[in-house]
Amino acid sequence: MKTTMISSAIFLLYGVAGGISSCEVGNMAPIANTATLPAKLSDYGIFPDGTVDQLAPGFHKYDLATQLFTDYAEKRRLFHLPLGAQFSFDPSGNPVFPDSSVLVKTFFYYKDKRNPAAGKQLIETRLLVKLEGQWNVGTYKWNDTQTDALLLESGTDETVSWVNERGVRKTLRYHIPSREECTSCHRSGRSITPIGPKARNLNIPLAGQPDHPNQLLHFRQAGLVTLQPGDLLTPLPDWQDLSVPLDQRARAYLDVNCAHCHSSVGFAESTRLYLGYELPLSSTRIHTRRDHILHRIQSANSNIRMPRLGTTVPDSAGVALIKAYIQSL
Ligand code: HEC
Ligand code: HEC
Repeated sequence: MKTTMISSAIFLLYGVAGGISSCEVGNMAPIANTATLPAKLSDYGIFPDGTVDQLAPGFHKYDLATQLFTDYAEKRRLFHLPLGAQFSFDPSGNPVFPDSSVLVKTFFYYKDKRNPAAGKQLIETRLLVKLEGQWNVGTYKWNDTQTDALLLESGTDETVSWVNERGVRKTLRYHIPSREECTSCHRSGRSITPIGPKARNLNIPLAGQPDHPNQLLHFRQAGLVTLQPGDLLTPLPDWQDLSVPLDQRARAYLDVNCAHCHSSVGFAESTRLYLGYELPLSSTRIHTRRDHILHRIQSANSNIRMPRLGTTVPDSAGVALIKAYIQSL
């Protein structure tokens, strides 16, 4: 397919930068990219008409069971596989993608959340690109005319303003993360890893389709994924779904917002506070650290507030949920 050819050409052009190896000093040292990414987002040919509403063939939209809070930004997620290739899951349900796969996450705000047709302000498109067995991170900041986005070499802040679902105008300084910040969250031991597309997180009914087929089965039918029976066993509940029991909602929230750092292979490994949904409650230390957790998620002080990266304001709905859960323990 055309796009696949375009993107493989890019990978040939930019290739894998030799000599840059990840830092060997200490387990929590930043992890470096092993490849150089193209300077412009348009070089990937993801969005043929320059808007994010149309996708080139070979790029597939996916949704997650439960959402990560990032200062109220809207997000759109895509994956790209080389032509004819498939992804799969390891026995823990973590995704295994072939080389030349690209994961794409675009952050934007609706100008008026009550009326999406009034348009969007595109902020950044983050990529994970797998080359020679290693994932590479990069984020592309959309230009003022919203026609293309350029690769950022460092983190930056951007003022955004939108009208929320209650008709209230909101403004904040949105933070676009640096590569070091990317790899703090996207690390598993000493390598970069995707976070969202775990089997349990993709195992949901597809929105916007008449008979709501299961997303994983839909991808299998399209020849994009190979599944093992275990991949379809445990869906992660949506923390915003009020019909789900409180403890499951709270643990799904902690899984998506915290567990990428708070795991035995994550950035907050040293805290021994592990917040993955798959862990039995007895091994998470949520019980014994409940006061710390409440203190950290509510704090107005950004040096104390959790999550450590990715937000500049506390998530009031999430705080309310975790508070209710912790008080129920
Ligand atoms: C605060 C932690 C955090 C930081 C910082 C962060 N990410 Fe992520 N990222 C996540 C989580 C959690 C998900 C999965 C949930 C989702 O998609 O909303 C994710 C999802 C993604 C995805 C979709 C595929 C996947 O892994 O799920 C891409 C691509 C991505 N991030 C790239 C980046 C890049 C590039 C940067 C740096 C510019 C970055 N991220 C910084 C936490 C983070
Ligand atoms: C980007 C990585 C990252 C994310 C995401 C993150 N944390 Fe942390 N967390 C850390 C690090 C690093 C420490 C240790 C340094 C410190 O105490 O500030 C820590 C410390 C903590 C502590 C103190 C440990 C203790 O036992 O007293 C608590 C509680 C905590 N985090 C809760 C959370 C919760 C709840 C979330 C999700 C809402 C979260 N964290 C998300 C990195 C992260």
